Amino acid sequence: MFDWNYWLQIFSARAGNLGFHRPERDDWLTDEEHRRIAASIATFQLGEQSEGRTLLRFAEKFAADHDLPELPAVTALFIKEEQHHAAQLKSYMLANGIPLKSRSWTDSVFRVLRKLAGFEAAVTVLVTAEMIGFVYYRALARATGSRCLKTICRAMCADESLHLRYETQLLMTLRGDRNPMLRRLVEFMHRTLVTVSALAVFHDHRPVLRQAGYDLWSFVRDCRATYRMVMRVGVYRPRARDSANHLSG
Ligand SMILES: [Fe+2]
Ligand SMILES: [Fe+2]
Repeated sequence: MFDWNYWLQIFSARAGNLGFHRPERDDWLTDEEHRRIAASIATFQLGEQSEGRTLLRFAEKFAADHDLPELPAVTALFIKEEQHHAAQLKSYMLANGIPLKSRSWTDSVFRVLRKLAGFEAAVTVLVTAEMIGFVYYRALARATGSRCLKTICRAMCADESLHLRYETQLLMTLRGDRNPMLRRLVEFMHRTLVTVSALAVFHDHRPVLRQAGYDLWSFVRDCRATYRMVMRVGVYRPRARDSANHLSG
């Protein structure tokens, strides 16, 4: 049974401890790093900011339909952590004179995909963005000499790995006991989404990813490996006696 209370406690306990990292005086980005990183980090800042309203709306509807009173609160706390990531990146960008973005084509595509279908599709798109974000932030930490940015990236990777555990457990629960053929089809489509998203992100963020030692195929391979690892760890298959009510508290 998916343990809503466990995640409510985890996210509630974390909510008061979301710290900020600020650059010290001798830790600014060099001009070269600025050129390499500015547009890239601004796109990810926009993405962190945009995860919210649609997801909460779907979660509230799903919770009402399935009698899951904890789900909206867990979702709201989760969104608060993403907004904290956006605020942390914004503060670092402004300290380094990097302008904010109000739109990017990858962010727009993820927004449209999230709105297309219901809660399960929104969580699938979200977990895909988070997997790729996890690989990206690890790369960004390698691509910069800024101690503060390295610390921010590592802290965000730690947060994202918890988020990924929550999201994959949620996703597996939402997917439930479909027949094996349909389940394989859904998993194939999800893997395809991960691959296509990784190709698009590499195209958009080449300077950072190349500096971190990636080429196109090694980046796609790492994103796919993250998918396999995360889905294996997050996997939750309800026992037969739970299957009738596997979505209940
Ligand atoms: Fe995030
Ligand atoms: Fe996240």
